[in-house]
Amino acid sequence: MEIKRIGIIMNGVTGRMGTNQHLARSITAIIKEGGIKVGNDMIIMPDPILTGRREYALKELAEKYGNEAKGEPFKYTTDVQGALDGKYGDYEIFFDASGTLQRAGFIEAAVKAGKAIYCEKPTAVETKEAVRLAKLVDDAGLKNGVVQDKLWLPGFRKLKMLKELGFFGKILSVRGEFGYWVFTGMDYDQPAQRPSWNYRNEDGGGMMIDMFCHWRYVIDNVFGPVKSLVAYGATDIDQRRHEDGTPFDCTADDSAYAMFVLEDGTMVQFNSSWCTRVRRDDLLTVQVDGVKGSAVAGLREVKTQSAANTPKPVWNPDVPQPIDFFEAWEDVPNNTNYDNAFKIQWEMFIKHVVLDEEWNYSLMEGAKGVQLAELGMQSWKERKWMDVPELG
Ligand SMILES: NC(=O)c1ccc[n+]([C@@H]2O[C@H](COP(=O)([O-])OP(=O)(O)OC[C@H]3O[C@@H](n4cnc5c(N)ncnc54)[C@H](O)[C@@H]3O)[C@@H](O)[C@H]2O)c1
Repeated sequence: MEIKRIGIIMNGVTGRMGTNQHLARSITAIIKEGGIKVGNDMIIMPDPILTGRREYALKELAEKYGNEAKGEPFKYTTDVQGALDGKYGDYEIFFDASGTLQRAGFIEAAVKAGKAIYCEKPTAVETKEAVRLAKLVDDAGLKNGVVQDKLWLPGFRKLKMLKELGFFGKILSVRGEFGYWVFTGMDYDQPAQRPSWNYRNEDGGGMMIDMFCHWRYVIDNVFGPVKSLVAYGATDIDQRRHEDGTPFDCTADDSAYAMFVLEDGTMVQFNSSWCTRVRRDDLLTVQVDGVKGSAVAGLREVKTQSAANTPKPVWNPDVPQPIDFFEAWEDVPNNTNYDNAFKIQWEMFIKHVVLDEEWNYSLMEGAKGVQLAELGMQSWKERKWMDVPELG
């Protein structure tokens, strides 16, 4: 059995996404499982080096997850350039989960070092910049990718399966409700659960730039290409508290409402808000209505109602509702193993780099998400429908 080592520089790994999704639930999990098995004669084994600015935080993560994965700490350094230059060993992949506004600088440095590049979304806050970065890596002939994790959520995989099976017939509309209450940090003993930069425009925050990147690849891949959109955003909460305890004025949109029309005419709506309290099945629910059936997906579970099982309501507010609308839905069973979505995409990217396997989630695909967010902002500011032109 050949064991093929793949060196990965993991940058910005002390952040929320870097630590939880990428280090703990993806790379550490893969190593713990004994690497990525390829057929009967090869195992690809990730070997990360953690990079960032805070040495003590890196050391703590390197010890915790390295010991968990392989019984010894991972390597770490605050010298990102040194890691790119090969000072600490041979690392073929550069991964970045630092803040959005730091992304370009790190990608440029990784391009100069000739690394395969994988990074969090969004790659930039403006389409022009996202396209420039995508072209930079393409022109350098480097393998590259952007995180598009939602595609591997069980909920979306099941929706895609239902669509492939023809369950919906013609799809008429899609409605997504996303969000939950993010505490402002202003109230007694109610700390915020997301980073404060998310609520500052000047630091790369904002609901549209955050979530429309996801909605773009979800819509394109599950339902079909987006043709046009109209959007509206708002800053619902004016003041929140910074991690250091000081209050700051919110400058970014914390809720966003959009209608997207697809090339085949399907209407897709997404409401996204950090200022809403959940009374639905999950933090994200997506209802798909088709002629032959409907489905409601949460992050993991999906419920269906076929044409034959559809109850027949009659409008009469003068009597209590006689139908329990929640009853006439069936669970889609878990007929396969649904692994962590980030981990699945990591395994695909690693196999793309090592074995040249197919990969459809490039920086140019990521740029399309930035484009949708930027067009959403423009639609909101100019109060008009926007067409979505081809990128490239
Ligand atoms: N795929 C998803 O579902 C998803 C979800 C949330 C956030 N994100 C994206 O992931 C990225 C990180 O978001 P987060 O929520 O983890 O934020 P975070 O603030 O928790 O983490 C950002 C990290 O980057 C580090 N950093 C900032 N400047 C740096 C620099 N110059 N050099 C090295 N490190 C630096 C910070 O110290 C921190 O560790 C953002 O681009 C965000 O849009 C993606």
